[in-house]
Amino acid sequence: MSSSVEIIEQKTFAHTVAEEIRFLIEDSVNARGHCSIALAGGKTPSSIYRLLSLPPFSDAIPWDKVSFFWGDERWVDHTDSQSNYHMVKETLLSKLLDKKPQAYPVNTKAASPEAGAVEYEATIRKVTESSGEKIPMIDIVLLGIGEDGHTASLFPKSPALKEGKRLCVAVETGETTKQRVTLTFPILLAARRILFIVSGANKAEIVKEIIEGRSDEHTYPASFYKKAEGVVTWFLDGAAGNLLSRS
Ligand code: 6PG
Repeated sequence: MSSSVEIIEQKTFAHTVAEEIRFLIEDSVNARGHCSIALAGGKTPSSIYRLLSLPPFSDAIPWDKVSFFWGDERWVDHTDSQSNYHMVKETLLSKLLDKKPQAYPVNTKAASPEAGAVEYEATIRKVTESSGEKIPMIDIVLLGIGEDGHTASLFPKSPALKEGKRLCVAVETGETTKQRVTLTFPILLAARRILFIVSGANKAEIVKEIIEGRSDEHTYPASFYKKAEGVVTWFLDGAAGNLLSRS
């Protein structure tokens, strides 16, 4: 694993991250003819998704060679404002005209979150041609973090932190939308590239704790990155990176 930290002033934060995503998509398509991306939910990435939906990004990116997955999904209808699929559709998918990516959202109309997780794993395995116990290598994983150190919907003390084989599981959280489906550490650890996208002063403490502290993923799930196989980049705006030592 190699990791780096980019601290970017707020006014250019979204553009800088969008530029990196564009570069990584083009690099993946040039190298392998395709690019798989697991998208982050929550509020932070929405401004980046909006930028990607507009020129020059919308014209430059070979969207028809891209497969979108979701790092996690709240167990609500896709029309619900709490839905991560809804957020991506509003900010990006609905704006892409002719060249559209293949989108593989979690089916939140399945019989239960557990059924949804089982179905989603089957979808990921089919699309990435990863049968049996093979762990697919997603090209780009976008992640946010919460103030408690959660990432995707892997929350502190969750039984999901112990999952070592399945690619995604159903979880109960203490959040507004309690039931969720989340990718698990095995598939996140195997990703080619991981981009943490974090902004706001409210995240500064946990960012410092995770990047400079000695925590592991059982205390702060986002700390899993220290064991990742791929290249990890933290994109922080000035406020989120404000407490890091400048060394
Ligand atoms: C979700 C996310 C979650 C999010 C963090 C940060 O579904 O909520 O996937 O992990 O990335 O909670 O959320 P904000 O960007 O809204 O601060």
